[in-house]
Order: sequence, then structure tokens, then C-alpha cells
Amino acid sequence: MTAITVDRLTKRYGELVAVDDLSFEVRRGAVTGFLGPNGAGKTTTLKMVLGLARPTAGHALVAGRPYAELDEPARTVGAVLEGGLFHPGRSGRAHLRVQAKAAGLPSGRIEEVLALVGLQAAADKRVGGYSMGMRQRLGLATALLGEPEILILDEPANGLDPAGIRWLRTFLRGFADDGGTALVSSHLLAEVAQAVDDVVVIGHGRCLAQGAIGDLVDPDASLEDVYLDLTGTTEVLR
Ligand SMILES: Nc1ncnc2c1ncn2[C@@H]1O[C@H](COP(=O)(O)OP(=O)(O)O)[C@@H](O)[C@H]1O
Ligand SMILES: [Mg+2]
Repeated sequence: MTAITVDRLTKRYGELVAVDDLSFEVRRGAVTGFLGPNGAGKTTTLKMVLGLARPTAGHALVAGRPYAELDEPARTVGAVLEGGLFHPGRSGRAHLRVQAKAAGLPSGRIEEVLALVGLQAAADKRVGGYSMGMRQRLGLATALLGEPEILILDEPANGLDPAGIRWLRTFLRGFADDGGTALVSSHLLAEVAQAVDDVVVIGHGRCLAQGAIGDLVDPDASLEDVYLDLTGTTEVLR
């Protein structure tokens, strides 16, 4: 079963083709890594999937429908884009209260998501004083408020220390083992490789490889070799 369908998506910003005729499918109940160097078009693609950017061409479906047509978007898909946006003067708990209310979700879920991401101790501190890792956890907590079947996380490992990255991998594995679907972007293959079932690798907005991680990374090659072979040795320069 397909959770997310990206079908010939294209996004142009003037002369720049940020996403170029990109197609892939995300399997239900699996973790899919969405990989590519900085500037490859990951965030732009995720924004189009979430109805936050209008495609120049092509379309995307979430749980079989365009995002804008979902009956209960917060219960279908939880998303965190590029670190999330928070009011710095609000506490983590207050942020979750505002978000739950806006999405029509019960406030009883707030303590559950704080526990799920391990943020209880910092819940009453102002977000302005949070580390990048704490912000990532708060973003994830926000995405989990609606108990969504699908999670879309943009660079969730950014700013996490090694223990935080391990925690994230364990969380993603557990989420998928319970039947959830996760699409997780990263500019580093190694950060997510141990947690993902499938990968989609893009460069310059185009698909470079997709499939099961086991088929992409053979035992003789290092992850780094595979990833750099696919994406080129330098970051995308424009
Ligand atoms: N709103 C925008 N206006 C103009 N160019 C943009 C905009 N958003 C992204 N881009 C450009 O599109 C390309 C892809 O960006 P992005 O999707 O953020 O890549 P990634 O998330 O993989 O780092 C980059 O060259 C970026 O500068
Ligand atoms: Mg990005």
C-alpha cells in the first residue's frame, strides 16, 4: 500500500528548477529516507506534498488524496519542516497547547507526546532557550499530537547529538513497527541508514536512485562511497 505518491512533481523558481519531474512512492509501514545534498530539492518537495508550495507541474497524494482534500489532516499526517517555527517566549507545553487547540485535538494528548519525545523536564521552559535538539523534539511532539499514521520529517537529525540521533532512529523504527509510515529527509545517508527500509536519493531536483536500502548499499561498499557516488563529491553549487 502506498502512503505518499509523488508523481512527476516539478517546481521552478524563475530560471531555477528546484524539483525536476520527480516521481516516487512511499510504502505504508516503512521508514523511507529522502536523501540528497543541501539544495537538492528535498524541502521544496516536502512542501509540495504538504500543500505549502504549489507545484509548477505534477502532483502529490497523501493517503490517496491531495493534502488539501484530507478530511482530518492532523490525524493523517504529522510534519516538521526545517526545524519548525516556534514562538520563542512560549514554553514547550504552551506551544503544544496552542497547536492542539488550533488542530481541534484533545489537550490530554500533550503529556503523552511530551513523554514520547522525552521533553517533560523542559516542558515549562521557554522555547527561546531550547537547544536545536530540544527544538527538534518539540517539532516531533507537535507532529505527533494527532496520532498521525504518516510522519514527514525534514532533516530531523540536524542539531542532534549522537545520543539524540540514536534515540531518533529507535523512535522511527518503533513508529514503523507499530504500522506507521515515515518519510525522513537528510543530507547525510549515514545519519538515517540504520533506521530506514527504503531510500529515495535526489540531486538537482531529480531522482538518482530509489529502492530498498539493502539493494542500494552492498556489503563491500561503505555508505559514504555509495552516497558520494550517487550525489557527486561536492555539495550542489548553483
Ligand atoms: N522560495 C524559494 N525561492 C527561490 N528559490 C528557492 C526557494 N526555495 C528553495 N529554493 C531553491 O531551490 C533549491 C532547492 O532547495 P531546497 O528544496 O531547500 O533543497 P534541500 O531541502 O534539499 O536543501 C535550492 O537551490 C534553493 O535555493
Ligand atoms: Mg532542506
